Amino acid sequence: MFNRETYITRRQQLRQKISNGIILLLGNVDSPMNYADNTYYFRQDSSFLYFFGLDFQKLAGVIDTESGEEIVFGDDVEIEDIIWMGPQIALKEKAEKVGISKTEPFKNLQQVIEKAILSDRKIHFIPPYRAENKLLLQDLLGISVSKQKAYSSLELIKAIVDLRSVKEEQEIAEIRKACAVGYQMHVTAMKMAKAGVWEQSIAGTIEGIANAGGGMVSFPVILSQNGETLHNHDHSKTLQNGRLLLVDAGAEIGSHYASDFTRTMPVSGKFTQKQREIYEIVLAANNRGRELTKAGSTYLSVHLAAAEVIASGMKALGLMKGDVSEAVANGAHALFMPHGLGHMLGLDVHDMEDLGQIYVGYDNETRPVDQFGTAYLRMGRKLQSGFVITNEPGIYFIPALIEKWKAEKINADFINFDRLESYLDFGGIRLEDDILVTDTGCEIIGDRIPITPDEVEELMR
Ligand code: GLY
Ligand code: MN
Repeated sequence: MFNRETYITRRQQLRQKISNGIILLLGNVDSPMNYADNTYYFRQDSSFLYFFGLDFQKLAGVIDTESGEEIVFGDDVEIEDIIWMGPQIALKEKAEKVGISKTEPFKNLQQVIEKAILSDRKIHFIPPYRAENKLLLQDLLGISVSKQKAYSSLELIKAIVDLRSVKEEQEIAEIRKACAVGYQMHVTAMKMAKAGVWEQSIAGTIEGIANAGGGMVSFPVILSQNGETLHNHDHSKTLQNGRLLLVDAGAEIGSHYASDFTRTMPVSGKFTQKQREIYEIVLAANNRGRELTKAGSTYLSVHLAAAEVIASGMKALGLMKGDVSEAVANGAHALFMPHGLGHMLGLDVHDMEDLGQIYVGYDNETRPVDQFGTAYLRMGRKLQSGFVITNEPGIYFIPALIEKWKAEKINADFINFDRLESYLDFGGIRLEDDILVTDTGCEIIGDRIPITPDEVEELMR
């Protein structure tokens, strides 16, 4: 938790951005795994955390944009809870730590909302993503679950995205800590990777490092010799010499700030010539992406520049052909990189995407591109100093996609399909760093995890 002025200032800034009515922000509740008392680790809602700082279950915050009144709704525990949970700080005391002087029992939230409805006041809420909050909103506002997204407040969404996009120094310091834990996760994976090791034992070990770092993983670990499956959570295989192992993993620390890194390594400890050639292209795309990232540039333009590096590298290897810029304009590179260069990072690993990825990644100036590959770019808009984003180009050989494009002659002017035959069992390579945008460029957050082929081989030795 940051100091109380942080939360007071953030709420003031939010209030100033909303023209009228009241703002309702719901915290999260415990979510059962298999029966009510056996719950997943509690994870507070990130926007609630950002404005109210309170990392506890079943709270709601209301801000009156006109009177300035701020209330936190929640319940103090009973003696029976104390027996199981130990003594708890009273809600009033917790709320004071974040600059809120008024607290009310949770059940009173209903009356406050009803009063606002009866007075015809606008109630601003963000689209809920948890079933419990969808049901609660249905009760409170009488808006059915299926209509809640449509009735959520675009004014509030845009205000929150505005505020949360530019990270404060203290937030960057937290992300730095999350990156340090992520660093340990990845170097441990590199040290453990060798033939005969079960993928799950590496995945479990690095997940444990995230836990030991004070939090948990920022998303379920992606770790596989089939790196061409972009989000591969199957860790059931045993490592084999000759294969590549792709590890995409990050930590969320106790303050809930996240990191997200990807590295790819040869199981044998030494890249083959063929692996190194593709790896060097991905590394060049990553480096180019970083060189071009600076305030004032759009991340869409950076994405397309990284795509050109990939297309030109693939052309040099004889896997693509024709004019590189034309190939990228036609989306031919997306056969090998069918995803975007990166996304926002902060309290969420894909920061604020619950609010609507389009509002996080795009604006009136930069609109999403409706073309296979680039359509998956989650962050395209103009960069500002203080944004934290990922830079994660990749090259993948996805047999089903290659077959489809070949059969349908998609981008046949730019792809040498016959040469791809010998790459069908290659797998995939992705190299991801977390970067902080500055006025003059950008900075890799924390120590860069070994990334050149020589550095990776050295560490694996
Ligand atoms: N690291 C997972 C993702 O960015 O989607
Ligand atoms: Mn990522």
